[in-house]
Amino acid sequence: MALPRSEYLSSVWRDGIFDGKVIFCTGGGGTICSAQVRAMVHLGANACIIGRNVEKTENMAQSIATARPGSKVIGIGAVDVRRIESLEKAVERCVQELGAIDYVIAGAAGNFLAPISGLSANAFKTVIDIDTIGSYNTLKATLPQLLISAKKNPNTGTNTSTGGRIIFISASFHYTGMPLQAHASVAKAGVDALSANVALEYGPLGITSNIITPGPIAGTEGMARLGDKDAEASGAAQRKNPLGRYGTVKEIADGTVYLFSDTGSYVNGEVLVIDGGGWRVTGSF
Ligand code: HXC
Repeated sequence: MALPRSEYLSSVWRDGIFDGKVIFCTGGGGTICSAQVRAMVHLGANACIIGRNVEKTENMAQSIATARPGSKVIGIGAVDVRRIESLEKAVERCVQELGAIDYVIAGAAGNFLAPISGLSANAFKTVIDIDTIGSYNTLKATLPQLLISAKKNPNTGTNTSTGGRIIFISASFHYTGMPLQAHASVAKAGVDALSANVALEYGPLGITSNIITPGPIAGTEGMARLGDKDAEASGAAQRKNPLGRYGTVKEIADGTVYLFSDTGSYVNGEVLVIDGGGWRVTGSF
């Protein structure tokens, strides 16, 4: 059964804007990234989603494919972003089966709540390896395809055919610092820095690189891991956000379509924080 569009995509976007394009997404079995990819597929793209868990990734690919009859969505499991060879193989298969990679979402992440004193050196390194090194590996493995796509789809401002774009998924912990999140803060600061460098180094070759920073998004694994259950149940956590509520995966998907479509053609090296303004309120996540 296909999910209703209203759950993952606004009605403002026109069907077919990503016809013939291919998106490659790590962490694509997760709640946020799957909504981003589902929105892209709905609007015409084919997709390749990557994950560590085989069954979860393949099932999610099948589910995403229901967004548009005739779409091709491949789920490649047993891929760990910490190992570049496994990503390179996935890229190879994506290109063999779908023909190209026009858009990339580096979304795989690992996180848990832990005080600095409760983090072993390996625990700290694990999160850096998944988030920072994993984002780099995703970029490195897909860059040749992004360069080809950027060449095919020159970003002139008048050309509505887009491609050669990457979005890294980050967080806002490191803007202020956050208790129990030293590992993730350091890791995501690195991701933000990586994106800025890609924007400057590869902008001249037609690639755009941006960050999406989701805030507290309802029903996600991140909230299950990091949210304050008691405060959520009483509504106190939601009321702390300037908009008085949690966000939805649809709001992240809409930001994705904005950056990947013609509307985002002059946005490069930016951070799009989609959190209701929450990061400005200390500890609001
Ligand atoms: C302290 C912990 C820990 C915890 C694990 N470790 N959990 N330390 N507190 N809660 C330590 C382990 O003891 C070990 O160190 C080291 O971390 C590696 O753990 P492993 O289990 O061996 O690693 P691995 O199997 O690779 O698992 C990685 C993981 C795990 C990050 C620890 O939680 C995971 O696979 N997560 C993937 C999914 C995920 O986290 N998604 C959430 C993303 S949400 P020692 O010293 O014992 O060897 C997110 C929020 C974004 O990112 C929010 C945006 C606003």
